[in-house]
Amino acid sequence: MFYSEDLIEEIRSRNDIVDVISGYVKLQKKGASYFGLCPFHNEKSPSFSVSPQKQMYYCFGCGAGGNVFTFIMEYENYTFVEAVKMLAQRAGVTLPEVEDSPERKKEASLRQTLLEINKLAAKYFYYQLTQPQGEYARAYLDGRKLSHDTIVKFGLGYSNKFSNDLYQYLRGRNYDDYTLKETGLVTIDEKRGGYDKFWNRVMFPIMDVNNRVIGFGGRVLGEGTPKYLNSPETKLFDKSRNLYGLNLARRSRRPNMIICEGYMDVISMHQAGFDNAVASLGTAFTSQQASLLKRYTDEVLLAYDSDGAGVKAALRAIPMLKEAGLRARVIDMKPYKDPDEFIKNMGMEAFEERLSKAKNSFMFEISIMERDYDMNDPEGKTGFFNGVAHKLLEFSQELERNNYIEAIARGYGIAYEDLRRLVNQYGLKSGFGEENISRPKPAASRREAGDREEAIVTAQKLLLTWLSEDTRLFAKIDEWVGPDDFTEPLCHEAALKVFDEFYTKGTVTPARIMNLFENKEEHDAIARAFNTTIRDESDKAAKEKAVNETIKRIKLNSLDRLSKNAKDIQTLQDIIRQKSRLQKLHISL
Ligand code: GTP
Ligand code: MN
Repeated sequence: MFYSEDLIEEIRSRNDIVDVISGYVKLQKKGASYFGLCPFHNEKSPSFSVSPQKQMYYCFGCGAGGNVFTFIMEYENYTFVEAVKMLAQRAGVTLPEVEDSPERKKEASLRQTLLEINKLAAKYFYYQLTQPQGEYARAYLDGRKLSHDTIVKFGLGYSNKFSNDLYQYLRGRNYDDYTLKETGLVTIDEKRGGYDKFWNRVMFPIMDVNNRVIGFGGRVLGEGTPKYLNSPETKLFDKSRNLYGLNLARRSRRPNMIICEGYMDVISMHQAGFDNAVASLGTAFTSQQASLLKRYTDEVLLAYDSDGAGVKAALRAIPMLKEAGLRARVIDMKPYKDPDEFIKNMGMEAFEERLSKAKNSFMFEISIMERDYDMNDPEGKTGFFNGVAHKLLEFSQELERNNYIEAIARGYGIAYEDLRRLVNQYGLKSGFGEENISRPKPAASRREAGDREEAIVTAQKLLLTWLSEDTRLFAKIDEWVGPDDFTEPLCHEAALKVFDEFYTKGTVTPARIMNLFENKEEHDAIARAFNTTIRDESDKAAKEKAVNETIKRIKLNSLDRLSKNAKDIQTLQDIIRQKSRLQKLHISL
């Protein structure tokens, strides 16, 4: 860290979050908070809240949250240090000169330097593309119908035919071999020195959501292998947690996101106006990428290649998307191979129509299953419907299941009642299906356990929120719960800080607590923890009931955990005593 914790806190407290955010977002007061349209996702009615008391923002729509530093980092695409500098200046706080001191070089994190180098390299590649030596690369992009604007927007470039010019250029900028090696842009050979990884390729800089270059893809001009070469994973470049084009797609006004296979697909879709297209980074789609997308949308359309590999990739991705809580649909590109070719041949209106006709993921899975059966053969047909019936059991809600049964009956020429009966037969056999079957259901009980887990975490977040909103609560609860009753790791850490701050200072400032957490995911989670509410907090009786239930739930869970780990009878007896004492708990507000 460049600056002391105290200095950071001084800067934070001198920049009122409502003032700062008002400079970016139109806010309106509603109760104790201010609300506006979230700048981090696309919405029509305000779910972005800013709390003057907590000095924190939180979006109930997309889950983005944090303190004033987080906001500036996210909005301006600044690093933490840049955000500190800006807010220090805004509040008239003078920062100690650390810029050019000898420590600076030591302290500046490698990550920061790698970002710098990547940016330089992207500029270098772009420059090469504009020079005489870039002629073939320009012709190649021209042949692929990319406009000048598109090339600039995606920062495309060219790595020329020299084998070490980028290396020399970066050395000339005073970066040492160790650092350069860490970028993945060069290899260092003991005998021959440094070599560029990319030669004679069209270069695609890969950016994170904050528009920072984290890696590169390079395509051969024309035929050749490998067709695409990608940067290796580095301290910056995690292929499973980023998506190509997401930096642009996150600002799209379209209602969903489109995932496709290749960089070129993303680019030609954006050029045709489908600015919600993204692609994975030369590797298969991952569940982390699904969660990343969930931050920006509820629905994903798959625009994978229409060949066998594309279908397989779609079948792999669908369960991950569902798991992340996303709806998925599949776009039919036939007779073309990929979106790039489709758009080039059929134009954007035709593609728009394919988008609107994209098949619901379940119906897509069924249509692929059909290929395995000979539907003209009675045996094949029976096999298919049995497979369908089996698959329909993944819907645990009867209404939803029946809607799908109906859709399949309509599309595949089987009577609704016949298919429903078949599904129920399977349901009986495997223990679920019709909701009146009361045998223990493996999938359902797993879900119940998940729900219970979630309810406990929510309870812990609620209590953190209430404590931060009304510190009088500390005195009322302190004989019942303490920081160690918060079992969820992040809540536990936050609780330790909340209780400590209250008992040493008499106040609780979530925004200050946030200074102690580093990454964006943690900030979102903490902001959520401090912004959890129940339906009707203005109703005093309802709130009192909720407070009592919440504290009971937290304490019971914590006691249960203790009893699992208890090693002797005394401890167990003590736990039992505490549990029975809990019956008497009554906190009035
Ligand atoms: P174009 O021929 O340029 O249109 O390629 P494409 O965008 O249609 O890509 P393709 O469907 O061939 O591949 C999809 C994606 O897979 C590419 O964008 C790359 O990220 C990755 N990929 C393709 N070929 C290779 C390869 O040879 N090596 C590696 N590592 N990745 C590749
Ligand atoms: Mn292609």
